[in-house]
Amino acid sequence: MENQDVYFIDGVRTPFGRAGEKGVYWNTRADDLIVKAMIGLLERHPNLPKEAIDDVAIAATTQQGDQGLTIGRTASILAGLPQSVPGYAIDRMCAGAMTSVTTTGSAIGIGAYDIALAGGVEHMGRHPMGFNSDPNPRFLAEKLVSPDALNMGCTAEKIHDRFPHLTKERADAFAVNSQKKAAAAYKNGLIQPDLIPVSASGANGWGLVTQDELMRPESTLEGMQGLKTPFRAHGNVTAGNASPLTDGATISLLAGDKAIEQFGLKPKMKMLSFAFVGVEPEIMGIGPIPATEKALKKAGITIDEIGLFEINEAFAVQVLSFLDHFDIKDDDPRVNQYGGAIAFGHPLASSGVRLMTQLAAQFQANPEVRYGLTTMCIGLGMGGTIIWENSNYRGN
Ligand SMILES: CC(C)(COP(=O)(O)OP(=O)(O)OC[C@H]1O[C@@H](n2cnc3c(N)ncnc32)[C@H](O)[C@@H]1OP(=O)(O)O)[C@@H](O)C(=O)NCCC(=O)NCCS
Repeated sequence: MENQDVYFIDGVRTPFGRAGEKGVYWNTRADDLIVKAMIGLLERHPNLPKEAIDDVAIAATTQQGDQGLTIGRTASILAGLPQSVPGYAIDRMCAGAMTSVTTTGSAIGIGAYDIALAGGVEHMGRHPMGFNSDPNPRFLAEKLVSPDALNMGCTAEKIHDRFPHLTKERADAFAVNSQKKAAAAYKNGLIQPDLIPVSASGANGWGLVTQDELMRPESTLEGMQGLKTPFRAHGNVTAGNASPLTDGATISLLAGDKAIEQFGLKPKMKMLSFAFVGVEPEIMGIGPIPATEKALKKAGITIDEIGLFEINEAFAVQVLSFLDHFDIKDDDPRVNQYGGAIAFGHPLASSGVRLMTQLAAQFQANPEVRYGLTTMCIGLGMGGTIIWENSNYRGN
């Protein structure tokens, strides 16, 4: 085996839908979502022989029912991959797809694999967060974690407590900006090229889902102000400044130098480093800070060299804590240029690859930018970051 560089060749996703009975995917199985995404991705690369794929890693946070049964393997069979292509399931909650990418990417890096598919799916309508989970009573009895650690909205309220200068007004303004940026990106046709339409049956029969369902382009600061604070009386976190409950799937194609040459693949970005780090579970949203510091160190670059940031917006306040730490303005144009999870939604284990797909699109549009990062917070107190180099980089 020979070490090789690891590249993100391409990434796509289903349009994201509202979780629950009113959502476009209420009657659609989770495994069908990821299968549609996989077929869509492979159709974009007709010259890639399917038998050349070394492995398929698919993440889901709730691994039961239509998200269970080793979904990487079942989805591969359903997507028509040859039987010789293996697959497996991954779980690191919100960073599931990110971990699919780092895990298969690592296998490519040491030369064990040449090509892999990595992604994730979460149908939060069919699999509500935490449903059927059975946390060990020791967690609370022995005060291993605070009760707040088990409710993500409460962890966001805790960040407001910890950093009082990250006010609700700032969180609301960040959220409105996310909605506006997402609407502008849609208007300019920047999101649609990487969406794989999904046929789904709803109250009015079958239809084709071609765009994200949850966006609220009409959002205003005034409209945000009166919203309920479901996680705490008189709190700061609302449906407006949190990511909504979402159904969706994402998938990426990763390859090493050898396969790029052999199959004529065109890379969009190179993986430079990655890191996952644990933090206090009750303020899990700050996880991206130490993860980014560690990943930057491994890549041998500084935060000032990062030209584009894709930060998962689980909650506005946790993104603000990241920006505040690195002395980046709330509305810095390098951050989430096409909008984020507050607008598009956050189908937990699939979001990591949405960040990469959007970063890759921005890299293509900005060949003067050399480095970017994707980062996200993770339940029970973790953060994950990948540092990427723009394959379209043309120097300044
Ligand atoms: C916050 C949360 C509880 C809200 O759930 P919900 O109440 O079902 O959300 P809704 O979409 O019905 O929105 C609630 C209200 O806010 C309004 N609203 C939502 N976003 C708005 C916006 N941008 N502007 C104005 N109003 C808005 C809705 O219209 C709705 O109003 P209504 O009650 O008059 O109908 C839910 O989205 C949530 O749990 N999010 C976090 C998910 C999470 O933890 N993910 C993991 C992260 S680690």
